[in-house]
Amino acid sequence: MVKAMKDNNDIPKATTNSQSQNKNNDQFELTEAEPQGQARNENQFILLDGATPNIVTMTKQLESQKRLASNIDLPLDARIEAFEDIMESEVGDTSMSRARNLEREIGLRQIFLKFEGGNPTGTQKDRISFKQIMDALRRGFDAITVATCGNYGSAIAFAAMLAGIKCYIYIPENYHTKRTKEIANFGAEIIRVPGDYEQAVEFSRQRSEKDEIYDANPGGANTIIQLQAYGEIAYEIYDELRDAPSIVAVPVSNGTTLTGVYKGFQSLYRRGKTSKIPRIVAGSSYGKNPIVQAFIKNLTNCSDLKREKIKETSINEPLVNWHSIDGDLALDAVRITDGWAANVSDKNMLYYSKMLRAIEGLNTLPASTAGLVALVDHHKKEPLSNDRYVVILTGRK
Ligand SMILES: Cc1ncc(COP(=O)(O)O)c(C=O)c1O
Repeated sequence: MVKAMKDNNDIPKATTNSQSQNKNNDQFELTEAEPQGQARNENQFILLDGATPNIVTMTKQLESQKRLASNIDLPLDARIEAFEDIMESEVGDTSMSRARNLEREIGLRQIFLKFEGGNPTGTQKDRISFKQIMDALRRGFDAITVATCGNYGSAIAFAAMLAGIKCYIYIPENYHTKRTKEIANFGAEIIRVPGDYEQAVEFSRQRSEKDEIYDANPGGANTIIQLQAYGEIAYEIYDELRDAPSIVAVPVSNGTTLTGVYKGFQSLYRRGKTSKIPRIVAGSSYGKNPIVQAFIKNLTNCSDLKREKIKETSINEPLVNWHSIDGDLALDAVRITDGWAANVSDKNMLYYSKMLRAIEGLNTLPASTAGLVALVDHHKKEPLSNDRYVVILTGRK
């Protein structure tokens, strides 16, 4: 293991374009606590994919609204109102700032970073979790289920706790994410199941059908709610820029986030608010995501990858899968907007996550930089012209 950045001397000096990465690679080095992504070959591995657990603090106001929202003896209207209050004050409206130092580092002007790490449990997943819990409340459900490898489970468990809804989280048995303890602390029941994430989704779905529990897994009947919730990211970007940027870059796994953002921009354009729909750029782990593979191979649709070839690492885990549940929607969004989808390496995700911390002061989850890496890699090969670029960073570390 090599040393970590220690002092200001380690902060990279501004360089231009392609000079920068190789030259500065050793300035964003790994620490003992951040192992470079090693392929999983044992029965268990510890994920470092999860945003930092245990940092959701209950303010006085949140606590009192929670008491109302979770009180099942109160009329539903009162609970919904209290929950809505929490949702509006806590979720979304994440910060977007111009990354002047990053611009200098990579030699491209007007890059804006939309930091989803400002959501309560640290990722964009809070957006869909709160909306679905609200839907569950309205429709009289008293329990919700989802399969997860970490971030989504934490977001659902937190929102469910606030609303007094029981929560069943399905996690593949050989995944040990830092998020597990947090999920349990939020009062959710964790069910360990054999197999991978996709199989855990099946278990969770079967449970929802058997026990009439709200199914918050991607790809179900409430996909529309999830897409609308992510569409708000586009509205927030518009609120800042007053038009669409030329490109929006997003990390992809199932493709739900990217599709929602695209739909949000599509709606803004249809309503005459923006002059265009941005080109949508997807980044995901090297050879391990069906959306990226379908784009690169020019396939009409996403096709499932070979399960046995998918090796998660502590870095790429939020992004890899052999089946992307909303993959075709995401692939269409990329193609229709003349965007692109690209493989990104663990090394680069880690590198840019460290760079953002050093020069922009943002503590990002490595996987959440996949869209940024896809953008920068393209710029290095075919320089992009100066314009407005928005990079969605999906999680904090
Ligand atoms: C931090 C983070 N970023 C991006 C994604 C990808 O989102 P989606 O599955 O909507 O493509 C995930 C998915 O779990 C995630 O946890």
